[in-house]
Amino acid sequence: MSAKVLCVTQQKGGAGKTTLCAHLAVALAAGRRDVTVLDIDPQQSLTTWFRKREELFGEDDGLEVEAVDDLRRGSQVSKVARSRDIVIIDCPPHAGNEAKIAIRSADLVVVPVQPSPMDIWATRPTLNLAAREGKPVLIVFNRVPARANLTDEMLAEAKGYGVKMARTRVGNRVLFAGALNEGLTAGEMAPSGRAASEISRLAREILRVTG
Ligand SMILES: Nc1ncnc2c1ncn2[C@@H]1O[C@H](COP(=O)(O)OP(=O)(O)O)[C@@H](O)[C@H]1O
Ligand SMILES: [Mg+2]
Repeated sequence: MSAKVLCVTQQKGGAGKTTLCAHLAVALAAGRRDVTVLDIDPQQSLTTWFRKREELFGEDDGLEVEAVDDLRRGSQVSKVARSRDIVIIDCPPHAGNEAKIAIRSADLVVVPVQPSPMDIWATRPTLNLAAREGKPVLIVFNRVPARANLTDEMLAEAKGYGVKMARTRVGNRVLFAGALNEGLTAGEMAPSGRAASEISRLAREILRVTG
């Protein structure tokens, strides 16, 4: 078995990398896939979330999080990928060497971006890295406000970058933050809410893109 590897990256901090990693991991694991998230951000927020989660649910083979401080040129990823269905890499907020290795290891580079000009411009170095590595990219608009005018302009700007954009947009919802704080996901706190449906649509879209 060799896992599909998703690298969730974007040099801008606060774009929603960790939030999307946690939510996608739980959504994909709920579909009976064995999922491992490699937390390569020294801040280790995803690992902190997962510890809380383990206090609630105990260990769960279907979903694992490993804090990794050195990808060892990607050998850490291929080792984990051998025994899992999906590996998700939660990247630090820069386009440095570890992010480059993570991108090189990936089947799909997922780039969350908030719909503001500065955030979109900040994706450039990440997109350039992915292009140099010849990796497919999926831009995901995150924290999208209910008023969509700005988003449409931003969409046009992002289109100019010539990479695929997710049809699913993730709204600006306090539940995302509130749930992570409890070791949960928005979908677990409100299974029929909008956040839950956005994440399951996004997960399906990602599975389609990675084949
Ligand atoms: N869709 C969203 N709606 C509301 N808040 C969000 C959303 N996505 C992320 N956030 C919040 O934005 C902040 C940064 O998110 P985070 O996932 O830590 O970004 P990154 O990992 O890219 O630095 C956190 O406080 C998080 O709760
Ligand atoms: Mg993060």
